[in-house]
Amino acid sequence: MQLSLGFFASGRGSNVEAIVSAIKKRELKAEPKVIICNKPDAQVLELGQRERIPSYCLNTSNTANLEQEIVRVLKKHGVNLIVLAGYIKKIGLEIIEAFPDSILNIHPSLLPEYGGKNMYGMAVHEAVIGSGDDVSGATVHLVNKKYDDGRILSQGIVQVKEGDTAEALAERVLGIEHILYPLTLRYIQEGKICLSEPRKYRLL
Ligand code: GRF
Repeated sequence: MQLSLGFFASGRGSNVEAIVSAIKKRELKAEPKVIICNKPDAQVLELGQRERIPSYCLNTSNTANLEQEIVRVLKKHGVNLIVLAGYIKKIGLEIIEAFPDSILNIHPSLLPEYGGKNMYGMAVHEAVIGSGDDVSGATVHLVNKKYDDGRILSQGIVQVKEGDTAEALAERVLGIEHILYPLTLRYIQEGKICLSEPRKYRLL
């Protein structure tokens, strides 16, 4: 499958960077087509500029019919796969219907554990540590109408160490995300993961 990627991010964009770097190193055959961001001061916009990826800051304060406009921009740039990477906004029906089985997200836990509304950022890692689990990790999944509920495509595991803080765990999980997301895309590109009929893969 040929991959024309549309990234959605609201913050630092380290996952976008890891994917773009895998493309540059020829570890992943894909074209980064566009970055959609909703925060004018997000670091990911600087990355877009540096890498010459067309980048758009679109939100309800600067765009009427936001979802419709996002779909228009994605189509204009020929995107066939949406890659959510720290996009802090729920994806609405209009985008979901325009890109069936073609929206991925990465979540910093082993879903279905520690997913759902308000489970993002440090809240996830604090909950993992609070529960006494000895493993955590990251999950790449398809996006549907509910938070963190779409079919799981791949997961990577990290150990929770004794005395771990949420910050230390977050850093270790992020490290695995940077390997898992490009690798999952590579498997999709090579046909080893099928989006319309996914199996669960534990890669790392
Ligand atoms: C990651 O932890 C990811 O799991 C979550 O948002 C964070 C994004 O980080 N969905 P970055 O902006 O890619 O650095």
